[in-house]
This record gives sequence, structure tokens and C-alpha cells, in this order.
Amino acid sequence: MSRSTNATEDSILSTNVASRGKWSSKFGFVLAAAGSAIGLGNIWRFPYTVGENGGGAFVLVYLLFVALIGVPVLLAELSMGRSTERSAVGAFKKLMPDSWWPAVGGLGVLCGFGILSFYSVIAGLTLSYLYMAAQGKFTGGFTGAESEQVFGALTSNPLATVGLTAAFLVLTALVVRGGISGGIERAAKILMPIFLVILLILVGRAVTLPGADEGLRFLFAFDFSKLGAAGIMSALGQALFSMSLGMGAMITYGSYLRKEDNLPSAGLTVAFFDTGLALVAGLMIFPAVFAAGLEPEAGPKLIFIVMATIFDTLPFGLFFAVAFYGLLAIAALTSTISLLEVIVAYFVDERSWTREKAVWMMTAACFALAVPSALSLNPSSSLADMVDTNDFLDLANIVFGNYFLSIGAVFICLFVGWKWGVANAVAEMRQGGAKLFAAPLWGVLVRYVCPVAVIIVLIYAAATNSYL
Ligand code: PHE
Repeated sequence: MSRSTNATEDSILSTNVASRGKWSSKFGFVLAAAGSAIGLGNIWRFPYTVGENGGGAFVLVYLLFVALIGVPVLLAELSMGRSTERSAVGAFKKLMPDSWWPAVGGLGVLCGFGILSFYSVIAGLTLSYLYMAAQGKFTGGFTGAESEQVFGALTSNPLATVGLTAAFLVLTALVVRGGISGGIERAAKILMPIFLVILLILVGRAVTLPGADEGLRFLFAFDFSKLGAAGIMSALGQALFSMSLGMGAMITYGSYLRKEDNLPSAGLTVAFFDTGLALVAGLMIFPAVFAAGLEPEAGPKLIFIVMATIFDTLPFGLFFAVAFYGLLAIAALTSTISLLEVIVAYFVDERSWTREKAVWMMTAACFALAVPSALSLNPSSSLADMVDTNDFLDLANIVFGNYFLSIGAVFICLFVGWKWGVANAVAEMRQGGAKLFAAPLWGVLVRYVCPVAVIIVLIYAAATNSYL
């Protein structure tokens, strides 16, 4: 330590050391949590769900759910995690031993399987698009019709879809096997800002395409007649899915957050970037949809068929195509890591498995569950068009990504609001210097508004038969 007798100098030195240490650690957490939150949910799921539900009104309801339900649940999960320093099941166990509450964490682990099983299929497709982009397939005269064809050919090849899914799961397993990886975090630190810059360049291109204004109108014109109960349910599911809530991922990630870090501000930063990125993706895709003469209701294939048409209209199109799909695959990977980590952490912490065994066994189990999702992309498969026009993948996406997460969020709110207690949670959040003037408001949201609102949406969807 400095032996300076100059008091001012000393205090400057210590504030510097303290604030630098604090900043870099909070930054590390924000990065990991944002890595989990930002992924295919923002770039793939958000735009096509907006497209299927008529645009602007859906976006507005989604934003409302992010603010009123997503942010409070995020803070609830993070404080549970940091307070207990345990993962999904263990956190409930530590706060309320000898009760049935740990089963809520168990539901989260199950949900992790369900989400990872279809997520890895879509993530696998990004690898194939990366390969095609590098081959120059999307540059040199590439039309909307061709783009539909390319997607159709890829998804009706079962060997390709199953193989790509396996490849992505193995990639995920290799990272999770090494524990909380400094490598992927360091990589994400450099790559996520680059991703943002590339997205903004693509937005710049998309909004200046001829016919782009129709896309902007679609995204921002509030036509509530197009938004039924199913749309409201999807907006809720999307708000939770996008921030990785309702299944314990943020409990697990909160458990790695240091006590001296400002938890609410870290949480709000993650929420801000996650929501901002979804909107950026919308600004990129909808102008391009209309410019290429494609349909916004195309469903899960929307991002694949639309984005492939944009690179041909850009200088250095090949570079942007490769960068876009490469970074999309990386964004997906930082999310699949967090999904597998929730599952693995359970078997390591609660069942005393070795990390190695947990990773490979659970990856294999996930792959088994993923195969029907991968096969269902083939339109002539019996797994396509299972209910209405939804294939197996769509159903897994809706059941786990909307319903499991919503039900999980209700239980987490009830637990934190009524069992563990708002006062305990707020005390946890205040450690690390947060003033938290909004604590009483947060208490009301977690105890009453969130559980009641989610239950109303679930009942409304059930009562009007709008499950999907
Ligand atoms: N939030 C991630 C995304 O938007 C998906 C995810 C959901 C990750 C739930 C973890 C838990 O891509």
C-alpha cells in the first residue's frame, strides 16, 4: 500500500481501487447475464412473434410486461441467487428447507431441458447459414423466393437438422464442461459490442431500402384489433423468455454476483440491453420483410428467409453475412450455455454428480428430446402440423417458453413476496449500495401485481381457447 502522508492522495487512491474493482466485477456479471438474456429470443423469437401477432400493439404490450413483470421478477431471482449462493433448487431449499418450494426449482430444471431441446435446433440452423454465407450463397443476386427455397431444402433434410442440432449441443457441452468459463466471457466482452455495431449497420441498410416505411408502420402502428388473447399470452411469454426468467437461470447467475455489487443497477442494465436489442432486431427485420416482398406472418423461419435477402443489397455483403450469422451463433451459444448450466448445476449441487458426468448425460438427454423438434421442421414429417399449423418444435417452444416460464414466474413472485419476504429481499438488494427508492413499489409488484396479472393472462388464454 502507498505510505503517502497526503490524505487527499490516499483517498483518491482508495476510491480508485474500490470503484475500479467494483466496476469490473459488476461488468463481468452484466456480461454473463446479458449473454444469457440476449440470444435467439431477441433476434429470432421476438420478430416472428411480432409478425404473427400483427405488429405494433403486440410490441406495446410486450414492453408493458417487460416493465411491470419482467423487471420485478428479474430482481426477485437475482436477490434469491445472491442471498443463498445456490442454483435453482438449492436456493429454495436454503431459504425454506423441509417444504415443497424446492419443487419450483425442479420445475425450472425441467423447463431448461424443454427450452434447450428446441433452442439448439434453431441454433444449429445458424451454423448452416454461417456456412452458406461464407460460400457466398446470399450474395450475387439472391431473391426472396430463392431464400424460401434455401430454407425449405435445409429444413426438409433430416440428416442436416439433426446433425446440426447435435453439433450445437456438443459445442455447448464443451464450454459448460470447463465450468464458468473465462474464455467465453472474455470472448463475449469483445464480440457482443461488435454484434451490436453490425446490427445497427444492418438496421441502417434495412430502413433505407425501398418500401421500408411499410415495415416501420407495421412495427409501430398500434392496431389492437389484431391482438387477441393468444397474442397477449405470447407477449408475456416473450418478456420472460427474452430475459431468461421463470426457470432459475437468473437465480443461478445471481449466485455468482458479489455482495458489494449494486444488484438493482446490474439487473436494470441487463433488462435495458435485452429489450433494446429486441427492438433493434425488429427495426432490422420488418423493413427488410416488406422490401423483399415477404410475409411478416412467416413464423419461425422469418429471420432466416428475410435476413438472407439483405446482404446482397449491401457493399461488403459477404463480410456482413458471415459476421451476422457468426455472431448470431455466438449469441445463441451464450444462451444455451446458461440453459445447460442450470441443469448441470442441479445434478452437481444436489445429486453430487461430477461435472463431467452431468454435462454429457444431460447433453445426451437433451439431444434425445431435440430430435423430434429437429425432424418436425420437415414439412412432410408427421411431426409437422401437429396442432393447427404448429409442428413439434412450435409446441415445445410454446409449452416451455410461454407456459412453464409464466407458471414459474408466479411461484417465484409468491415465494419472494410472501414466504422469504419483501423485507429480506430488499435488504439483500441494498447490500452493495443501492438506494432503491422504488422498494415499496417493487414490493407491491412482486406480491400482488405480477402474480395476479400472470394468472389473469393464463386464465384469459384458457377461457378463450387461445393456447397457441
Ligand atoms: N433469454 C434467452 C434468449 O433470449 C433464452 C433463454 C431462456 C435462456 C431461458 C435461458 C433461460 O435467447
